[in-house]
Amino acid sequence: MVVARASAPGKIILFGEHAVVYGEPAIAVAIDLRTEVTMEEGKGAGHRVNGHPITPYHHAYLKDALDMLWKGRPLDVRTVSGLPSASGLGSSAALSVATAGAILALQGDAQPERIAREAYAAELAAQKGKASPTDTSTCTHGHAILVDKTKQHDFLWDVAHGERKWYLHHLDVPQLTLVVGNTGMRGRTSDQVAKVARFVKRTGFAREVIRDLGKTARAAVPLLRACDKPALGARMDEAHNLLEILGVSTPRLDELCNAARPFAYGAKLTGSGGGGSMIALTDEPEKCARAISKRGGYPTVVKLGGPGVTTSTS
Ligand code: MEV
Repeated sequence: MVVARASAPGKIILFGEHAVVYGEPAIAVAIDLRTEVTMEEGKGAGHRVNGHPITPYHHAYLKDALDMLWKGRPLDVRTVSGLPSASGLGSSAALSVATAGAILALQGDAQPERIAREAYAAELAAQKGKASPTDTSTCTHGHAILVDKTKQHDFLWDVAHGERKWYLHHLDVPQLTLVVGNTGMRGRTSDQVAKVARFVKRTGFAREVIRDLGKTARAAVPLLRACDKPALGARMDEAHNLLEILGVSTPRLDELCNAARPFAYGAKLTGSGGGGSMIALTDEPEKCARAISKRGGYPTVVKLGGPGVTTSTS
């Protein structure tokens, strides 16, 4: 019996979360925490996940990917994740990518571009039609990516949804030390994306904030290439303020950012917000981590830019 395995990294969004849904640029980096999925044909009447029958409530991303991609016999699926769920670190995207990777490996067609597209389709279904391909493409490609509305140097693939098209590019990022501070509070991406969508629909002011987030992300690209940490940190603080105005920060996220800042170049929430995690760019990771945990956060020093999805069959 064929067994397929796939492993995908989590991600951190450095700049451009939420704004990227509306076509503004974003920069995201893979991290060294991963999700693994193993699949083989099962003996039961339906798919099973870690020994339990699959349900749309508990396994939304997995079920959407299986419904879309698998027409064969029911599968036994096992998942192991080093990524806390709803933490802003790409746990759902890593699961969608590893799931699509394992299914496509069973079908003998596990190309990264195909995996990125299929994982995005699953994410889109789970996020009720509002999502950018940032998370799923980062978890597929690994390293770092730049998302933009035009095609540039180091182009990887494009992904379209409705009238919008995103161009995904490989981005070289320098060795930077980031401390992630998890608030321990769950922030559901679909809720936060829907909240921003309501704000953007109602007010021109929200659309301006989205454009400003885009400007910040665009300005960060050359700063990253030049490894200008003080300037990058200032942009991170700026991005956090804009995300706060957009309504996706929380008092806990603000508190952890403030705690980290005396030991960091800058700090911001990362991912969809509403809970989840913040990041701080620092040369003093221990001091920064201590300050975060003193305020009740859960710090992790992360290595940026690991490999993307891997697949195998045996
Ligand atoms: C979530 O990690 C990133 C968001 O921009 C949503 C998306 O891009 O689909 C908030």
